[in-house]
Amino acid sequence: MKQYLAVAAACLMAMLAACSGEKNPAGGERIVLGFSQVGAESEWRTANTESIKSAVQEAGIQLRFSDAQQKQENQIKALRSFIAQRVDVIAFSPVVESGWETVLREAKAANIPVILTDRAVKVSDDSLYVTLIGSDFVEEGRKAARWLLEQSPLKDGTEPVRIVELQGTVGSAPANDRMKGFKEVIAANPRFQVVRSQSGDFTRAKGKEVMEAFLKAEGSSIDVLFAHNDDMAIGAIQAIEEAGLKPGQDIVIVSIDAVRGAFEAMMAGKLNVTVECNPLLGPQLVDAIHAVREGRPLPKRIVVEESVFTREQAAEVFPTRRY
Ligand code: AHR
Repeated sequence: MKQYLAVAAACLMAMLAACSGEKNPAGGERIVLGFSQVGAESEWRTANTESIKSAVQEAGIQLRFSDAQQKQENQIKALRSFIAQRVDVIAFSPVVESGWETVLREAKAANIPVILTDRAVKVSDDSLYVTLIGSDFVEEGRKAARWLLEQSPLKDGTEPVRIVELQGTVGSAPANDRMKGFKEVIAANPRFQVVRSQSGDFTRAKGKEVMEAFLKAEGSSIDVLFAHNDDMAIGAIQAIEEAGLKPGQDIVIVSIDAVRGAFEAMMAGKLNVTVECNPLLGPQLVDAIHAVREGRPLPKRIVVEESVFTREQAAEVFPTRRY
């Protein structure tokens, strides 16, 4: 009965959309995009949502947006609802990497192209999606580790360097890949050891909570915090200050995203470096949608160019940051 009602509601929405004569400003039929977002867990995500919404609106594409609140089951429901509504294109940023095969097959059977933004999926058949637009997370992890080994105040010396790691959402592509890239590079120098690693789910609140636990267990023996995103680093900075230590000095902090909050923390001397992860994917998504609709081929992977920013550069770069 529930399923019947859900399908009936989706059909009604599709009929209403058709009746409302969804035309683009040029007078043709408007493309309808169903987009399922991960949630609103970080400053990065807010900027990503804003970029997608504004680019899609500017292009005259009709958007059906769904927020999964960091739950895969919500994303699967949203994708099924988009299929039932017969949208023209589905795009989504998958919360985790695995578990998508069935629903992506349903989209394929319905002839609805799927574009991945930001995060990857693990599927046995890569024809289940058209392309993935987003960062190289493994490389981001490598960049964080390279800075530590080659440029940080800890690069020289003989003492062991004790690192704690705040991972992103368990099973997500950025958590898996950043951890992999970071480990790969620090393996070159056995002085650098990850002594604790736990998920802070990409949020400030969890980042603070887990850092408190690290500090309780390790006392003042932590040399470095590697956080998989800036929000968790900012939460951890609070925990470090509350423990009577100086973030950025007593504990060197390396994180990822390069959001404005990280620049503020760097300008206050509390964060040492942030690796850029660009959330402004909206314009590339719009280009990909047009390519798909016009039958133009797309590469399977569209990678975004990114930098690394240190606290020495922060004040100069801050005014130019767009997120
Ligand atoms: O998938 C990108 C990651 O997700 C960003 O680094 C993080 O801030 C977000 O929540």
